[in-house]
Amino acid sequence: MAMDAVWSFSATITTSWRNYMWIPILIALLEFVGSAEAHYGILLPSQRSSSACPAPDPDFYYRPVIGIVSHPGDGASGSLTNVTNASYIAASYVKFVESAGARVIPLIYTEPSERLLKKLDLVNGVLFTGGWANSGLYFETIQTIFKKVLEKNDGGHHFPLYATCLGFELITMIVSEDNNILEEVSATNQASTLQFAENATIDGTVFERFPAHLLKKLATDCLVMQNHHLGISPRRFLDNKKLSSFFEVLTTSKDEDKKDYVSTVRSWNYPVTGFQWHPEKNAFEWASPRIPHTEDAIQVTQYVANFLVSEARKSINRPPAQEVRDNLIYNYSPTYSGKAGRGFDQVYTFT
Ligand SMILES: *[C@@H]1O[C@H](CO)[C@@H](O)[C@H](O)[C@H]1NC(C)=O
Ligand SMILES: *[C@@H]1O[C@H](CO)[C@@H](O)[C@H](O)[C@H]1NC(C)=O
Ligand SMILES: *[C@@H]1O[C@H](CO)[C@@H](O)[C@H](O)[C@H]1NC(C)=O
Repeated sequence: MAMDAVWSFSATITTSWRNYMWIPILIALLEFVGSAEAHYGILLPSQRSSSACPAPDPDFYYRPVIGIVSHPGDGASGSLTNVTNASYIAASYVKFVESAGARVIPLIYTEPSERLLKKLDLVNGVLFTGGWANSGLYFETIQTIFKKVLEKNDGGHHFPLYATCLGFELITMIVSEDNNILEEVSATNQASTLQFAENATIDGTVFERFPAHLLKKLATDCLVMQNHHLGISPRRFLDNKKLSSFFEVLTTSKDEDKKDYVSTVRSWNYPVTGFQWHPEKNAFEWASPRIPHTEDAIQVTQYVANFLVSEARKSINRPPAQEVRDNLIYNYSPTYSGKAGRGFDQVYTFT
């Protein structure tokens, strides 16, 4: 900025003064800019020492990595690839994780399970995305990883899981051991509120960090994005002993027919959170005009991401740095898939 100002100033003088009288003025200006930079660039000896900074709490891990399970297809209705074993991760989930200070390793569901389990040892938490696939190899992979997540936690390794939309539906099926537990709801492409369950826990849940005013707005403003035609009513959820002993229902939402469905759950005993809604979309997806992008809505994305990564920092896993880098999602490039104004804005595809 300062240099731009100097150049435009000198240009003005050049045209009005035909001689070189502007040169000393320019030099004086440059010296002034230079001295200002020097002034701000030089630190006092007391400010230079990094030993003044307290060491970060060694109980936490500050290089957390989240594994995201890929979903069948190319995420772009076949416009990118029709290869039958193709799978994808919408880039919004990756950005969501990155925005809170973690990196991503893709857990490509078609990979041999030994390789998937090895990759699971390189991460500090897992995210299950939205989608439609609820059977076959994809469902089996989700089942295997879910069991591993519980095993790690049972073994004293704090290892969080976020299950979004389809991911939430699948863990509902797995925990209830009933693949027909879900019901039809009308909540495709719809923003909604979150109604907190009576006596719902806030401390220690995803809502813990929300400021009071934003928590209140969740119940009155449509700050979360829904996009699903399946769901489960609070009655059915609570009546199922396996579900109600594993999960606490934190919120419900209403579909287009004013029917209540469970919208946020957390496990009583594991760092597992289920969202029927899409926390990642508010900040990172633009195709649907229904996605809320208000400042409040963006903060919802941010607070939810921060909770996942704060839980991952509690993980005791300290994987070898090179192995992590070899498997990071940076080994792949996202494709702009939203140019037609439909679907995901960017996707990572694996073929
Ligand atoms: C995949 O198949 C569809 C339907 O046949 C076609 O429109 C599309 O162009 C194909 N995609 C690619 C990447 O070839
Ligand atoms: C909520 O807490 C109150 C006071 O402890 C209790 O009377 C009520 O039954 C609780 N409601 C539910 C749904 O657990
Ligand atoms: C898909 O199948 C091809 C051919 O068998 C294989 O080379 C490739 O590794 C597979 N890709 C994925 C992501 O599983």
